[in-house]
Amino acid sequence: MRIDRKRLERSIEELGRIGATERGGLSRLALTDDDRRARDLMVRWMRDAGLRVGVDRMGNIFGERPGTGGPPVMIGSHIDSVPTGGRYDGQLGVLCGLETIRALDDAGVRTRHPVMLVIFTNEEGARFQPAMLASGVMAGKIALEDAYNARDRDGRRLVDELERIGYLGPEPCVPRPMRAYLELHIEQGPVLEEAGLAVGVVEGIVAISWSRLTIHGVQDHAGPTPMRVRHDALVAAAEVVTAVRRIATTIGGDLVTTVGHLAVQPDIVNAIPGSVALSIDMRDPRSETLDRAREMVDAAVAAACAREGVRYELEHYWRVPYTPFAPEVVDAVERAAGAAGAGYRRMISGAGHDAQYMAAIAPAGMIFVPSRGGRSHCEEEFTAMDDIEQGATTLLLAALDLAGRA
Ligand code: GLV
Ligand code: MN
Ligand code: MN
Repeated sequence: MRIDRKRLERSIEELGRIGATERGGLSRLALTDDDRRARDLMVRWMRDAGLRVGVDRMGNIFGERPGTGGPPVMIGSHIDSVPTGGRYDGQLGVLCGLETIRALDDAGVRTRHPVMLVIFTNEEGARFQPAMLASGVMAGKIALEDAYNARDRDGRRLVDELERIGYLGPEPCVPRPMRAYLELHIEQGPVLEEAGLAVGVVEGIVAISWSRLTIHGVQDHAGPTPMRVRHDALVAAAEVVTAVRRIATTIGGDLVTTVGHLAVQPDIVNAIPGSVALSIDMRDPRSETLDRAREMVDAAVAAACAREGVRYELEHYWRVPYTPFAPEVVDAVERAAGAAGAGYRRMISGAGHDAQYMAAIAPAGMIFVPSRGGRSHCEEEFTAMDDIEQGATTLLLAALDLAGRA
């Protein structure tokens, strides 16, 4: 059993053109016109491969290759990207999933369990928060109404955008019976490249916490207002940014903390910032560490805002616990990596993935391939075709193992 490397490479090129940036990256935010174009292309390819395509109420796309019986082995990922992101995050998993199906067809292999390709809506959480929104709804962890009412920065509702691009489907977005869920993804860190290995056998995903903070200061003129009477929202926010960094260095271990979004009002040269909104992203393999980190955020925000005499609202609005994958699926991935002749190691993921929610409703697992320089969520994101070939072969063999030959 082998994949068609040239065909896979062409698919990566072609899909990667939709939303391509000048510097070789990708800006294809969820439910934009480019997302619609990319979905349309995927649906065409899925139909060409003979799959029965369906869309659910969150816009998740499913394409089933029939088996002789039983629930499907689901393989997939997402095709939305972050702004000025890369061409591999998400879309590589979807295309290797499609290549798995094409390779099964080429070899004339019939499987016991169906093999189903899935493309999840809004995995990135770049346009609508939180991340992994549609797999979260499917797993019953996020209410459909809450997801529908998520708004982008321009106030547009997710449900209206789903309808606008024609992907508000009829199928219920609920847990489906699954033999297993498998997702190939780029590692997005340096481990595999440093070890010179092509494949990561993923054993689990870190716990994730997202918070939003809004600081209300007093907007005033930058000239006539003496320093002693100011209540500057950005000064308090600046203290919070450095405090969030310090929480990671204080607790140590594997904890990582990031302030990635900062919006200043009115955001001009000659006004004291009246309000600031910012995001806090924290991750650690141990869920308890995030409890401690959240308490430290509470204290740091209270102290910074008290010093500047400003009001604030802090909301810890999203939390995913550490997610171990099913040993049965992890073992299948490991066997497949060995059979593919790939150098591999077991590891855990520092990025969130739809597999994290799928693990709540199915035996789940993931396959990683290396990221050059460990970089992702940037235009420099790159994975070599030799590694992709080994990863895709691992996916094919693991899917076949779990689906069983008919
Ligand atoms: C998704 O890319 C995440 O890990 O935030
Ligand atoms: Mn991704
Ligand atoms: Mn991503």
